[in-house]
This record gives sequence, structure tokens and C-alpha cells, in this order.
Amino acid sequence: MPFAIAGRRQYSVSDIPNYLKARSLGAKADASIDQLKFQAVIDRHKSEGYDSYKYFDKRMWLRSKMMRAIELGLDKSETGSVLDLGCGAGYFLYCCKFLGHQVHGIDQPGYDFYTDMFECLGLSRTSERIEAYTPLSPLQTRFDVVTAHQICFNGHRTNRLWGVNEWQFLLDDLKANVLTDGGIIALEFNEEPSIGFYTTELRSFFESKSARIFRGRVIISSDKLRLPAYRNNLATSFRSEAVGSM
Ligand SMILES: C[S@@+](CC[C@H](N)C(=O)[O-])C[C@H]1O[C@@H](n2cnc3c(N)ncnc32)[C@H](O)[C@@H]1O
Repeated sequence: MPFAIAGRRQYSVSDIPNYLKARSLGAKADASIDQLKFQAVIDRHKSEGYDSYKYFDKRMWLRSKMMRAIELGLDKSETGSVLDLGCGAGYFLYCCKFLGHQVHGIDQPGYDFYTDMFECLGLSRTSERIEAYTPLSPLQTRFDVVTAHQICFNGHRTNRLWGVNEWQFLLDDLKANVLTDGGIIALEFNEEPSIGFYTTELRSFFESKSARIFRGRVIISSDKLRLPAYRNNLATSFRSEAVGSM
């Protein structure tokens, strides 16, 4: 039976243990933040619109993002690495960092509130617009987990909403250039007016990758992604480099 905990977000009764854990870990993560620095960020941006002030309730956001981290097993796994696409104010990455992981984000440039939040939370970020059919800029390392929450870079609420081909391109790029072997991709879609989280075609595409799909979430293991032929050489040379340096 579903129930609502925060706004419109629906959880089911089976989520209660994770929710309670997220609440406790989120409160600990909150306590580890420099409260004066955080308050200074709020004071600097408090006259801005909803896009900023919806993120001022850090305890609520840390609990919600900790729930995502727990759902991915990041509270139990050995130290790993997490890349968050469209990382916003950085709450999810801060939860992962608090749990002991190496973290990095990508978000479009030009939003001072996010820049100040990243500085306050001690996080790193690449300022870059994610565009359809454009590979991400090279990163210094590979990541065990690539996430994207409440996704907007897919043309959310525009008439340029990404379809199967755009997602195939991004997944191919992540597999070839970003993910470690056996890494996972965890996506959380925003609802589109009159479509829902995804079209039937896009849902079938993710199903064809054996994705776990629930409540707008799509979790895919990189083992299920095909490696595009044109990038085989790149991946092979990366693997030999990694083996060579062991
Ligand atoms: C709804 S917010 C979600 C933020 C964060 N992921 C979260 O769940 O709290 C969408 C984020 O996507 C970013 N974004 C939108 N379009 C983008 C693009 N083309 N490339 C990179 N980031 C983008 C925005 O700057 C914003 O941080």
C-alpha cells in the first residue's frame, strides 16, 4: 500500500526500514555540515525565487537523497565512486561523501546558489551543459555509480524531450568512457505533462537493458549495455592501461 511522506513522493510500506535509516543517517550528515557556512549561503540567496529556496530545507533534502543512496546499497558498499549528472545543490553527493565514497558532479554553469552550496559542502563539480548526442567531457577517473535525479537535461517539459536515440547515445558514452566494469546507472525521471515518467517506447528500451524500473526510477547495470563498435578500441586500451598499472 503506497503512502506519502514528503509532498507528492510516494513510498510503499516496504520502504519504511530504508526511510527510517535515511532519516537517521540524513540527520547525522546534516550535523556534519558547517551550519554557519550553510546559513551564510542561505542569507546570500534568500531573496531568490523558488529554484533556490526549495533547497533551503537541507534536513528534508538530505533525508530524501540519503534514501536514494540507501536504495542503491551505497550505505553498505565498500568505498566507491559516484558521479551525479545534473547534481543541483549537491545533497545527493554530500550523502554519498558522508557514507565514505569519492564523489563528483556535473551541472550546467551559471547558477551561483549551486556554486556556493558546492563550496559549503566541500564538493567538486564540472560545469558543463549535458547535450543530446554530445559525449561528456573527459573526466579524470571512472565511476562505479552514475546517477541523475529529477532529470531536466533530457529536455524535461520542452518539445525537445529525449527519446530512445538520445538515451542510447548517453548510455553508450557512459559505458565506453565513464563507468567502471560492472558499474551501475541510476536515473530518476521527472514526470512529463500528459506522458508520465517516460513514453512506452522509452520504457521498453530500458526494459530491454534489464533495468529495474519503479516510480520513475531506472537502474541499469553496465553489464547490460552494449559497447558500441566504434569505441571498442578505446575501452580495450583503457583496460590494458589499468591492468598494466596494477
Ligand atoms: C530539478 S533539478 C535536480 C537537481 C538534483 N539532481 C536533485 O535531485 O536535487 C535539475 C538540475 O539539472 C540541471 N540541468 C538542467 N539542464 C541541464 C543540462 N543540459 N546539463 C546539465 N545540467 C542540467 C539544473 O541546473 C539542475 O541542477
